[in-house]
Amino acid sequence: MPKPLSILYVSSEVVPFAKTGGLADVSGALPQVIREMGHDIRIIMPKYATVSDRKFKIHDIKRLTDMPIEIGDKTYLSSVKSSFLTNIRTKVQVYFVSNDDLYCRSDLYIDPKTKEGWPDNDDRFIFFCKSVIETMLLLGWKPDIIHLNDWQSAILAPMIKTMYAKEPLFKNTKIVFTIHNAAYQGIFPADTFEKTDLPQKVMTPDGMEYHGNVNFMKAGLQYADYITTVSKTYSKEIQESNDFGFGLEGIFKKKSRKLTGILNGMDTDVWNPEDDEHIPAHYSKKDFSGKVENKKALLERFKLPYDEKVPVIGIVTRLVDQKGLDLIEKRLDNMLKLKCQIVVLGSGQKEYEKMLQAAAKKNKKQVGVEIGFDEALAHLIEAGSDMFLMPSKYEPCGLNQMYSLRYGTLPIVRATGGLADTVIDLNENPKKGNGFVFDEYKAPKLLDAVKRAVKAYGDRENWEAAMKRAMSADFSWNRSADKYVELYRKLLKKK
Ligand code: ADP
Ligand code: GLC
Repeated sequence: MPKPLSILYVSSEVVPFAKTGGLADVSGALPQVIREMGHDIRIIMPKYATVSDRKFKIHDIKRLTDMPIEIGDKTYLSSVKSSFLTNIRTKVQVYFVSNDDLYCRSDLYIDPKTKEGWPDNDDRFIFFCKSVIETMLLLGWKPDIIHLNDWQSAILAPMIKTMYAKEPLFKNTKIVFTIHNAAYQGIFPADTFEKTDLPQKVMTPDGMEYHGNVNFMKAGLQYADYITTVSKTYSKEIQESNDFGFGLEGIFKKKSRKLTGILNGMDTDVWNPEDDEHIPAHYSKKDFSGKVENKKALLERFKLPYDEKVPVIGIVTRLVDQKGLDLIEKRLDNMLKLKCQIVVLGSGQKEYEKMLQAAAKKNKKQVGVEIGFDEALAHLIEAGSDMFLMPSKYEPCGLNQMYSLRYGTLPIVRATGGLADTVIDLNENPKKGNGFVFDEYKAPKLLDAVKRAVKAYGDRENWEAAMKRAMSADFSWNRSADKYVELYRKLLKKK
């Protein structure tokens, strides 16, 4: 038996404590599966306003209380607290970096008033990274692997590799950096650099300097021992063009030998139509008669009429350019001429919120829209819809299409990133198909895919066969967790 590994998993959001998107789902699920494999994996994240001490049984750690952390000429106090992420099988230790001024706000990253990032996001995440290092030093806990996620934790890579290069605790530590979305890079003015305390050599084009600014994601890419992204297709796309690499494509290409795509899994305990606590009727691939009850409940919730013959198309998403909302906007009227209903849950860019609300107002029997973030409703939409629309411009992995497949809700997607790696077109491949796929990012192509889906829905027998296939696919974390552990071990073998 190879020796169990110690792994610190650093993430800016983790389900059930705080979530804005898929990173939280991944961070709440992957560490549990790695723990079940016998490794000592611990998570560290910021303690936001949603992270209630009482609800999550969080306690103080005396040694880690009021640690002074300097950011430029300011000194902030950092206290690290602890709790566990539990499921029926395991317990994973979670550390929370707390400082109420920095983290207890109405949103994780964005000021709802301006819809822009908080102006001190650089301080907030430099503070986070410095606190992570202090925590490990004070605990004397030696991680074999530090696993970073996205820009918020990326500068830990140069910190460990330069400022702490001689620190015995990190002597053999390897750093893995996972990119969940290359569009969000953490770019700040050049004077942010001083606040990191990193040596000047890091502020160069070979380090984190980026067109005269600092770029946190770039820092992670330059200093990590290995880079992963969340699907095979996305790992290639980001090397190809600015549309995917957002200016970092050259670096992704340069690092291609240390870069791989590992497809995300899904938490099959949380997203399970057989015992989902958020839906009124349970069902399985053997008997999906319960699905129609969920459809009725969903339509009732949106005050839309039920008609057995009319398919419901669900959408749950951040309402941002990435998700293909401009294509939807261009063809919504045409889609509504088809026999279908559309329900949407999301929040984000104002123009999309308004466009959808206007459509609901105009089409009272056909369109339901809820602006906001609602975990329970997201589950009901997965269970109650017949199809799920995700026409993303780019999609590093995408989790909702996997949830949809598991709920027998056939996804309509664009062939990009993880969508291309998980959904098979039913018209092209009638024996294996589990959804509808279009290639070019063009509105007529989207409309064509929706038309094909609505038409296919009329053929009950084939539709149900496709549902069964969709529900039988295995998107659990086990396979991908093995790949991460394999990667960790491979890195640790290298001197
Ligand atoms: P991304 O991380 O780019 O937003 P993913 O498909 O990977 O996309 O993950 C999105 C996650 O966030 C899913 O679990 C989805 O159900 C959830 N989600 C997105 N918007 C909302 C919302 N408005 N209400 C509830 N859940 C949402
Ligand atoms: C990002 C991506 C999404 C991915 C998620 C988890 O938010 O946009 O495609 O599924 O991270 O990796």
